Amino acid sequence: MPPTTPDRSADWWRQAVVYQVYPRSFRDLDGDGLGDIAGVTERLPYLQRLGVDAVWLSPFYPSALADGGYDVDDYRDVDPRLGTLGQFDELVAEAHRRGIKVIVDIVPNHTSDRHAWFQEALASPPGSPARDRYVFRDGSGPDGSRPPSDWMSHFGGPAWTQVPDGQWYLHLFAREQPDLNWANQEVREDFLHTLRFWSDRGVDGFRVDVAHALAKDLSEPLRNYGGTHPDALTELPLDGSHPLFDRDEVHEIFREWRKVLDSYDPPRSAVAEAWVTTSRRVLYARPDELGQAFNFEFLVSPWSAAQFRVEIDGALSAAAAAGASATWVLSNHDVVRHRSRYALPAGTDLNAWLLSGGTAPEPDDEAGLRRARAATLLMLALPGSAYVYQGEELGLPEVADLAPEVLQDPIWARTGQVEKGRDGCRVPLPWTRTGASFGFGGEHPWLPQPAGFGELSAEAQDGVAGSTLELYRAALRLRRELGGDESLQWVDAGPPALTHLLHLRRSTGWESVTNLADADVALPAGEVVLASGPLGEGTLPPDTTVWLRRTSD
Ligand code: NOJ
Repeated sequence: MPPTTPDRSADWWRQAVVYQVYPRSFRDLDGDGLGDIAGVTERLPYLQRLGVDAVWLSPFYPSALADGGYDVDDYRDVDPRLGTLGQFDELVAEAHRRGIKVIVDIVPNHTSDRHAWFQEALASPPGSPARDRYVFRDGSGPDGSRPPSDWMSHFGGPAWTQVPDGQWYLHLFAREQPDLNWANQEVREDFLHTLRFWSDRGVDGFRVDVAHALAKDLSEPLRNYGGTHPDALTELPLDGSHPLFDRDEVHEIFREWRKVLDSYDPPRSAVAEAWVTTSRRVLYARPDELGQAFNFEFLVSPWSAAQFRVEIDGALSAAAAAGASATWVLSNHDVVRHRSRYALPAGTDLNAWLLSGGTAPEPDDEAGLRRARAATLLMLALPGSAYVYQGEELGLPEVADLAPEVLQDPIWARTGQVEKGRDGCRVPLPWTRTGASFGFGGEHPWLPQPAGFGELSAEAQDGVAGSTLELYRAALRLRRELGGDESLQWVDAGPPALTHLLHLRRSTGWESVTNLADADVALPAGEVVLASGPLGEGTLPPDTTVWLRRTSD
């Protein structure tokens, strides 16, 4: 068991293992089909045994679930279907008792359309202070019947929706997620209030949603982009001058936040979700801003030693230059689970694969699991923080065959059923081999689980040598024991092995070796402390990672 004494150091987060809980899919204690806060508390012993340092809770706030909870009605309350503030306090107290920190998600780019502010804006006239908290504009065209600009929503369709009095409001995501106006002082102050509200309740850190979108250049005339999808806009040169993303002024906001976060003892941590290039991303992670920013290049890297090495070196040097610590992610609630990604040929169009119900191309599940386990040990060997998504410790695959009628992600409807969306990685967790919802709770989970989930359940893997759950438990325990500072040294095996091997050494002397070749390679010297799969006679098979303690220097 990891230590249970609370870590009061100011930099506990720099090399933490953070476990992401998507609350509606984690554990449904009251059996209504939606996971809940009390369900998370009930499973803290499981998380403690897993060996995580912190739990990050995706939004659990009141929400109509137009975007899985990222449409927040009230930032300072708990969705009554998920529990109460009192139950949240119990969760924090119990997590701390078990030596686990708690990170909450904060969604500052947009509220939900049910938020009191948006309701007030709708009831108020154009030009009113209530409308100024959002981005309302008159339409274009002779009678204002066209959107103010041609900006598109990330979820498909125009980023503008018209209200009955003729004005339009901006929403970079679903129409139920109106964008806030961060030039408005009241908006800024309200989020400082929210940071204090949760910090006062003992929350240890924050994950900041779409951090790169808050500051926008909304000066008239708005700049048209020829109907470009916003994802394509982020590929424009990012020099801080883009009207919607990654503007230089956004950093003033986070410098203000840091002052609040640092007014606590220990200071509250923060991690930015900012889909921008590495060199710009680490600006959000500077010590006087958020401290960390998610690195998604590692996640999207193809299964290639050379490419992984580029991403690892790039992320480490950029983080070090900014005074931040690096972050590593393989799965989260927005992407196809890594076991399934690695089961597919390089370059597979993942959306097309989802639309085929997970059959075209046919995934090689065994290879997927083998690689997922190898990638996980590689990730956990790296200096910095690892963010683990619920269920990856069970080796869960993406549920690619969800029927159209059960899909809930707004992406499906808003793209005119062209993009299947993210429901397949959000299917409720299996805890037990059998039972109506494999121990998730209740008879009817909000998304159906596939029949094979029982054999992947925590119960089925608990105590089973070689299971993915036991691999994660061992890896988290060893990572803590073996330690190391934030530096990494590559051990070059010399060509041609170099191009297929990722052999790294940590400052305390232990090593991790991943074989991405098609054939076995000789196992480097050292005592094997953990392997992601079976080893050969003195050899390291393909798609396998081994951790070694050096026996001599
Ligand atoms: C990023 C979140 O991770 C995603 O789930 C959400 O849809 C968007 N931000 C909008 O809040």
